[in-house]
Amino acid sequence: MTGPTNPTYDAHADAYAASLRLSVAPMMDWTDEHCREFHRLLAPGARLYTEMVHAKAVIHGDRARLLAKTPHQSPLALQLGGSEPDALAQAARIAADHGFDEINLNCGCPSDRVQAGRFGACLMREPALVADCVAAMAAASEVPVTVKCRLGVDDDDDYGAFARFVDGAVAAGASMIVVHARNAWLNGLSPKENRDIPPLRYDWAHRLKRERPALPIVLNGGIASQALAFKQLAHVDGVMLGRAAYHDPYLLHTIDAALSGAAPRPRADLLRALRPYVEARMAEGVALKHIVRHVLGLFHGQPGGRLYRQVLSEGAHLPGADWAVVEQALTATEASAARHAA
Ligand SMILES: Cc1cc2nc3c(=O)[nH]c(=O)nc-3n(C[C@H](O)[C@H](O)[C@H](O)COP(=O)(O)O)c2cc1C
Repeated sequence: MTGPTNPTYDAHADAYAASLRLSVAPMMDWTDEHCREFHRLLAPGARLYTEMVHAKAVIHGDRARLLAKTPHQSPLALQLGGSEPDALAQAARIAADHGFDEINLNCGCPSDRVQAGRFGACLMREPALVADCVAAMAAASEVPVTVKCRLGVDDDDDYGAFARFVDGAVAAGASMIVVHARNAWLNGLSPKENRDIPPLRYDWAHRLKRERPALPIVLNGGIASQALAFKQLAHVDGVMLGRAAYHDPYLLHTIDAALSGAAPRPRADLLRALRPYVEARMAEGVALKHIVRHVLGLFHGQPGGRLYRQVLSEGAHLPGADWAVVEQALTATEASAARHAA
């Protein structure tokens, strides 16, 4: 028999496929709950990721803070760090109970602290352990388990080993793989250098997809324009943007709008849409500066963009700062842009 036999299932599959097209990478200190709220407004169709949280922090730590989110941040993945199957399974169950839509295992972070804990990128050299971790997480909850990985570590240059790593994770239950398409160098490079210096090899992710057409593959690393995002979408199921989405959040908006067919909204409208959230959180005691630090890039590359950043970042740090500071920044930016245009 050919063709769809279960329309409900197919609609679900289509919605899932659509939700993979664009995502915002997990970024420590950056993709906190406030940042994700802003990104959700900019990109209603994007899949969002938390910062990495260690499995043991989920189990023993302050869950209200570590797992904080709002319902409309969905689809939202919790990224877990760790390499102990039991702890990861327990954390996955807790994440599922908290309503996360995906649980992602970090196999790409190269920091010293992470290496000392034997997780992150060094797991690329332990495919059997990763498979055990994924199997334990998948058995512990109904929520899809995914893996974010590199191509290898240090001077690895073995597509076969990379593909076997992926196949092991998938056989253990991973339903999607995010490929940060470069190696992690565990000696001698800082995490920041590790995001730039090891060369990108998109062709490995393309080949993985060609050889495993049924496996959802999301490509990450260096995607910083709409043109590049769409070029890559011809080869893989989705693109994940990290730094570009953070530093130039309007790019996230324009890509999301292009994917959905919606007309892009003006920057100021998008920012003002955040006001109810900002005021609600401030009423709970959150300082303005903790939220608006994530919106400083909104006018990136625009006339008045530097002034916007300056007025907002300086004003948000003043005692008693409230939404009026955001309006001041917008007014200053509009005036500067008008002078520029005149
Ligand atoms: C500030 C910062 C923090 C990051 N934290 C994480 C993290 O917690 N987990 C993770 O898997 N990757 C982390 N990354 C890596 C990103 O998820 C992404 O893989 C990397 O930045 C490459 O994508 P890009 O070129 O689009 O930025 C971080 C990157 C940055 C810039």
